[in-house]
Amino acid sequence: MQTAAEAATHERPPAPISKGTFRAQRPEIVGPDEPIAPFPIPLSGAVQKGFGRGGKDLGCPTANLPDESLPAMSEVTRTGVYYGYARVFPDKDGQRALTEEESRVHPMVMSLGWNPFYKNEKLTAEIHIMYPFTRDFYGHEMRVIVLGYIRPELDYISKEALIEDIETDKRVALNCLARPAYERYRNDPLFEAAA
Ligand SMILES: Cc1cc2nc3c(=O)[nH]c(=O)nc-3n(C[C@H](O)[C@H](O)[C@H](O)COP(=O)(O)O)c2cc1C
Repeated sequence: MQTAAEAATHERPPAPISKGTFRAQRPEIVGPDEPIAPFPIPLSGAVQKGFGRGGKDLGCPTANLPDESLPAMSEVTRTGVYYGYARVFPDKDGQRALTEEESRVHPMVMSLGWNPFYKNEKLTAEIHIMYPFTRDFYGHEMRVIVLGYIRPELDYISKEALIEDIETDKRVALNCLARPAYERYRNDPLFEAAA
């Protein structure tokens, strides 16, 4: 397996195109009944601004992790779409900016890669937290536990096709996380606020 970090320094083959037949036949649940190595992978950092297309273009806002927190994941996994849990902490610069509900642990889907559809030149880890936040949380501390892999990164002939795959990713992630051995990571000590 070529890890995401290795792919950054080697020639990258073009990402395969997501075909209608692939999208129509995707399974609703993937992977083993409990996380196996290299999962769980803990990640954390202050939320970074992306290009802002996720929310506007795709109806799927994403929070990016800073570059320094990527190697923990990119050195042991390939690029692709992953699922797990995330928590954004409520305080920023001593100000409480998120509600109690918003700052709980929520399910997340993550895209690790170069976003072939948008032809990014930089490896990013973009996290979509499955909770209807009412405000931005740039600069807030985010902690994440990645628990499993869903699919490779793909290229798309239309934005609608990418949106369709992202909607399937969200359903698959929720089904995967409902398994007891995954569900218990919601209460992992990583998500407890620092004393
Ligand atoms: C669950 C999920 C799956 C994604 N899958 C792909 C993909 O297969 N190919 C791709 O080019 N981009 C994929 N994306 C990335 C989106 O293109 C990206 O989030 C969008 O460009 C927003 O980036 P921005 O906020 O930096 O503008 C995915 C994003 C998410 C949240």
